[in-house]
Amino acid sequence: MDIRSRAGLAAAVAALLVLGGCTASADGGVDVGGVRGTPGAAGLRDPYFPKLGNGGYDVTHYALDLRYEPKAGRLDATAMITARATQDLSAFNLDLAGLTVASASVDDVPAAVNRAGNELTLRPRDDIDKGDVFRAKVTYAGVPRTITDADGSKEGWLRTADGALALGQPAGSIAWFPGNHHPSDKATYDITLTVPTGTQAITNGVRTSERTANGRTTSVWRVAEPMASYLATVGVGRYVTKASATPSGLPVLTAVDPTVAAKSAPLLDRIPEVLAWQEENFGPYPFSATGAIVERTGDAGYALETQTRPVFPQDAFTPEILAHELAHQWYGNSVTPATWQDIWLSEGFAVYAEWLYAEDFEDTPAQRSFESAFAVDANWAFPPAEPPAAENLFDPPVYQRGAMVVHKIRQAVGDETFYEILAGWPATHRHGTASTADFTAYVEDVAGEDLDDVWDVWLYGKGRPPAP
Ligand code: TRP
Ligand code: ZN
Repeated sequence: MDIRSRAGLAAAVAALLVLGGCTASADGGVDVGGVRGTPGAAGLRDPYFPKLGNGGYDVTHYALDLRYEPKAGRLDATAMITARATQDLSAFNLDLAGLTVASASVDDVPAAVNRAGNELTLRPRDDIDKGDVFRAKVTYAGVPRTITDADGSKEGWLRTADGALALGQPAGSIAWFPGNHHPSDKATYDITLTVPTGTQAITNGVRTSERTANGRTTSVWRVAEPMASYLATVGVGRYVTKASATPSGLPVLTAVDPTVAAKSAPLLDRIPEVLAWQEENFGPYPFSATGAIVERTGDAGYALETQTRPVFPQDAFTPEILAHELAHQWYGNSVTPATWQDIWLSEGFAVYAEWLYAEDFEDTPAQRSFESAFAVDANWAFPPAEPPAAENLFDPPVYQRGAMVVHKIRQAVGDETFYEILAGWPATHRHGTASTADFTAYVEDVAGEDLDDVWDVWLYGKGRPPAP
C-alpha cells in the first residue's frame, strides 16, 4: 500500500474498525492495541540539505553486499540495515538516488516500497514500536550515477579507466546504497565486494577474507567503528595493493593505480611516520586500520578523507594533503560535524594540521601560514561557521579561515592548553558528532575563560579584521 495514499489509509482504518478494539486517532494515525505508528520524517532538516537523512530511527549497522561488473558499469546489491526506532513507525524512508529496487523486507517480512525522487519509503506489514531494533533489507541493481554538486564537483559513483570509485561528500553515497545519509547517524559496516577476478576491490576498514570462484573474487570487509555514510568508499580497479603494519601493529592497506604506483610509493611509505606524529599531537588514532587509495589525476577531482582509507588523485598526493586527510580521521571522521553547517570543524582542523606539518617538518611556523592565509581576499568571503549556501561548503573560508580560528584559539590560550584542546576535543566526542556550539563551549571549559572575542571576530565576523 502506498503510505501517501489517504484512501489506502482510510481503508486500513475501516478494516481495523471492523475487527474491533481499534480507533482512528484525530491526526489520522491508527491505534492498534495502544500502539500508533506514524511515518518517519523524510529528512533531518539539515540547514543545507533538508531532505538528507530520515527521521524515526537510528541505524546501528549496515551490511552491504555489492557485486560490480566494471565493463557494464552495473551494480547488483543487497543492503541489510539494522536500526532502532526512535518513534512508533508505520513507515520510514531511506535515501537512494537512481538504481532499481527489486524488493524490500523488514524483519524478513516483505515490505511495501515506494520511490519519490531520492526518497525510498518502506512500509512494513506491522508497525515498529519505539525502541525496537529492526532489520530492513533492500535488494537493488543498476548503473550507479555520478552526482554533480551545487559547486560543480563530482561525487557518487565515478567510472575510472579500469573500474570505479565511490566518493560521498556531502551526499554521494546515496548513489550506491540506501541508508540514512546524514552525518548525524553513524553506524558500523560489513561490506562484501564481488568483482571479476583480476580486478581488485577495496573499501574502508579491515579485510577479513577473500576467495575466488567462477571467475569472481569476493572480499569481505569490516568497519568496526562508527562511520558517517559520507566517509564510505569503494574502489574497483587494477590496483597495486600493499598490506603492512605500523610499529604499533595497526594494519596498513594501500591501493594504487598501476600507472602512478612508482611515483606514489615513497609517500605511501611515510604513512606510519605521519600517523605517529599525529598521535603525539592529536591523541590515540581512533580506528583499527589505515591506508590510502591513490588514483590517476582526474579520476577524482579532489582528495577525500574516506574513513581509514583516504582517496587521493595522484596530483594531490603531497605530504601536506596526506597530513590533511589523515588529520580528518580525528577531526571529521571520529568527531563528525553534527550538520553540514559545522563542516569548518572538520576542514579548519585538517588545514591546521597542514600548518602544524609545515611547522614541525618544514621550518614554517604556523604563524607564517596564518599570515599568508590572512592576506588572501577569497578567505574572507563569509564567516566559516556560516556558509551562505550548499555551493559554498567547500570554499576557502571554511578551510583557511577555519584554520585561522584554530590559530586564534592557540594564541588566546597558549600552547600548553592548545595541545590539550587538540587531543581533548576528538577524545571527548570519539565516534560521535558535535556542533560548533559544542566546540566553543568545550574550548571555553578547558581554557577556563570566555573567548567571545575569538568567536565574534574570527568565527562569525563578516569581514577581515584589521591586521593583528
Ligand atoms: N573535503 C575534502 C577534503 O578536504 C575535499 C572535498 C570534498 C572538496 N568535496 C569537495 C573540495 C568539493 C572541493 C569541492 O579533503
Ligand atoms: Zn578536508
